[in-house]
Amino acid sequence: MAARSRRSSSSRQSQSTAAVVMALALALALAAQAQALLSQSYYASTCPNVETLVRGAVTQKLQETFNAAPGTLRLFFHDCFVRGCDASVLLSGPDDEHSAGADATLSPDALDLVTRAKAAVDADPQCANKVSCADILALAARDVVSQTGGPYYQVELGRLDGKVGTRAVVKHSLPGAGFDLDQLNALFAANGLTQTDMIALSGGHTIGVTHCDKFVRRLYPFKGGRGAGPPMNLYYLRQMRQTCPLSYSPTAFAMLDAVTPRKFDNGYYQTLQQMKGLLASDQVLFADRRSRATVNYFAANQTAFFDAFVAAMAKLGRVGVKTGSDGEIRRVCTKVN
Ligand code: HEM
Ligand SMILES: *[C@@H]1O[C@H](CO)[C@@H](O)[C@H](O)[C@H]1NC(C)=O
Repeated sequence: MAARSRRSSSSRQSQSTAAVVMALALALALAAQAQALLSQSYYASTCPNVETLVRGAVTQKLQETFNAAPGTLRLFFHDCFVRGCDASVLLSGPDDEHSAGADATLSPDALDLVTRAKAAVDADPQCANKVSCADILALAARDVVSQTGGPYYQVELGRLDGKVGTRAVVKHSLPGAGFDLDQLNALFAANGLTQTDMIALSGGHTIGVTHCDKFVRRLYPFKGGRGAGPPMNLYYLRQMRQTCPLSYSPTAFAMLDAVTPRKFDNGYYQTLQQMKGLLASDQVLFADRRSRATVNYFAANQTAFFDAFVAAMAKLGRVGVKTGSDGEIRRVCTKVN
């Protein structure tokens, strides 16, 4: 048993290193592509109401289910990291993230929210087939943030939708819940993001949930005496053992920000100060001295967090943007034309 855990942990480590190397190579390839010409007024003449139309669809979906809010924010993050912000994350063919089972936790409610926003945009005769799914997702991500209490900010537009599915690259493009600070920094740097950007964007975990499999190894002494990863508040650890018993159900989950899980605020950073971060990749931001000061700063000053989050979202939204023949305006967000 012990030998098996050791082997799987070292293979996790080398997988993570491979992931970072692959991500670097991918980011270089993406950077070599046409320089994106994003602008806030991209649809001013072709679809002047695009923001209102998307916001309306978001408001309606969030009234039905809050889950769509964290789900949509996460979908945008995955989209940008996997092949650039090109809506490839929405594709649902056999070669895609959804159907490949690479991440079964991508939210169906978020996908539904984007589908509805696309329908609302296309129902306006002026806008029909003029707005990309990638831009609709970028706008929807901003709207879920602002509608859950976070900052409202202008979104740059003009991304085209990609024509290639995500299955081949998804595992190498996304951070793991067990990543340490160096691994997180390497992967975010490969996408043009600084450590401060990475810490601010991790603040997206102020809303939403994580399933037990992502942090259960922190709760039990699988490896000789203590759980893996940075230390966890003992009282909280006992509580989480009840949420995720050793024989946890695959659908069992806990809130990423236990105090205000439905409010986009700086509470996430305060949970890290209390050693109540669930993912190792969250708690490590406080555990590592090199990132702790920024966590403390965001925990103390919500305005500073919001400003940093907005700046980092703009940079995230520029990753690997497609223009010209690399892209298209998809008619249906889940399928290439
Ligand atoms: C820093 C590296 C990151 C890691 C390792 C990470 C990992 C994860 C994991 C493991 C989950 C739980 C999935 C599940 O079990 O259901 C999750 C959820 C989530 N992530 Fe991240 N993530 C990271 C960065 C981000 C970023 C940059 C954003 C957006 C700005 C983001 C937004 C979210 C949201 C909103 C959820 C909740 C989803 C829901 O409730 O449906 N994450 N993340
Ligand atoms: C909080 O951060 C904002 C934005 O960076 C800054 O203007 C303000 O002075 C900070 N407030 C305090 C009390 O440090």
